[in-house]
Amino acid sequence: MKIVSVVGARPQFVKLAPIHKAFVAAGVDHVIVHTGQHYDPMLSDVFFEDLGIGTPDVHLGVGSGSHGVQTGAMLAALDAVFDEHRPDWVLVYGDTNSTVAAALSAVKMHIRVAHLEAGLRSFNRRMPEEHNRVLTDHAADLLLAPTQVAVDHLAAEGLAERTVLVGDVMTDVLFTVRDEVSSRPSPLVEDLGLAAGGHYIATIHRAENTDDPARLAEVVAGLGALDRPVVLLAHPRVVAKAEAHGISLSQGAVVVHPPLAYPELVAAMLSSAGVVTDSGGLQKEAFLLGVPCTTVRTETEWVETVELGWNVLAQDAEEIARGAGRPRPEPTDAAPYGDGRAAERVVQVLQDWS
Ligand code: UD1
Repeated sequence: MKIVSVVGARPQFVKLAPIHKAFVAAGVDHVIVHTGQHYDPMLSDVFFEDLGIGTPDVHLGVGSGSHGVQTGAMLAALDAVFDEHRPDWVLVYGDTNSTVAAALSAVKMHIRVAHLEAGLRSFNRRMPEEHNRVLTDHAADLLLAPTQVAVDHLAAEGLAERTVLVGDVMTDVLFTVRDEVSSRPSPLVEDLGLAAGGHYIATIHRAENTDDPARLAEVVAGLGALDRPVVLLAHPRVVAKAEAHGISLSQGAVVVHPPLAYPELVAAMLSSAGVVTDSGGLQKEAFLLGVPCTTVRTETEWVETVELGWNVLAQDAEEIARGAGRPRPEPTDAAPYGDGRAAERVVQVLQDWS
């Protein structure tokens, strides 16, 4: 079986790691295509190195641009790649512009498309990711859903026959890395001279929190007013937008720090008092690591984290403070994101459906 994986942005490299490992173990001929959506070494290369993926077989070098320019450049480049490799499946991941471009190119070439992390919905049509995931799900031939909630969304859209519940591959990679780093002190905590458990980890990068100056100012003020140091792992997008809007990120409690490699991020979360984020992945990772999360959004796709009490939504500075300072949630045995063996199931399903 030959499979082409198309990835381009940081969370997709994390999902690719357990999939690649499972493909290698099963003898799958796996071709990895990197669109180049993320190109900074700390958003890209470190994940390939640290998570044992090796180097991509094809690099499109598309880079940044408006949605249309970026997605269009990927579409134009992918046709030739798929034509050369003619795989049994094109596997696409998550909800970025790289996801929708690869799905669209492949289905039009009559190559079967499998969508990993299918069925997530925010029902917020102002999010670019919502359009990417809805369009990808409806184009794809096989929908690999991470949760029962995702399965239910797909059924409601008439896609039940193409859907299989496999679990969440981010659980696979997170548990492996957690076990590697949990006995060591966090390099970030040591470098910054922080007391273990005495800081928050924050990330902010979504368009809805960064593009509007008033919105970004509100979020940064909220982080700055928290009761202990907030290490803001600053995605290049928030750095660029803050500079353009004339907003200083280093306010009050905020300590600005470049993004971390995955093992260092997991270690930094494990030793923190909580996470404040608008990232999808971090909400789930915090839950799986038993770290309270405050999500700076109006809704979340990962509703299980909220229902189980480990995540709260925060709209403004006051809600960010209330969320971060809330008492520690009750422990739970619930495992809505699978058992850490989702990637093996993905291989099996792709073989069964070939
Ligand atoms: C993208 C995804 C988002 C995902 C995120 C993970 C889309 C629509 N969005 O958002 O769903 O959560 O990745 O990080 O696909 N930039 C750099 N260096 C880089 C990459 C980006 O400086 O390596 C800067 C550029 O100013 C660029 C901006 O970040 O214009 C936005 O990058 P882009 O890839 O368009 O989207 P993300 O915000 O990273």
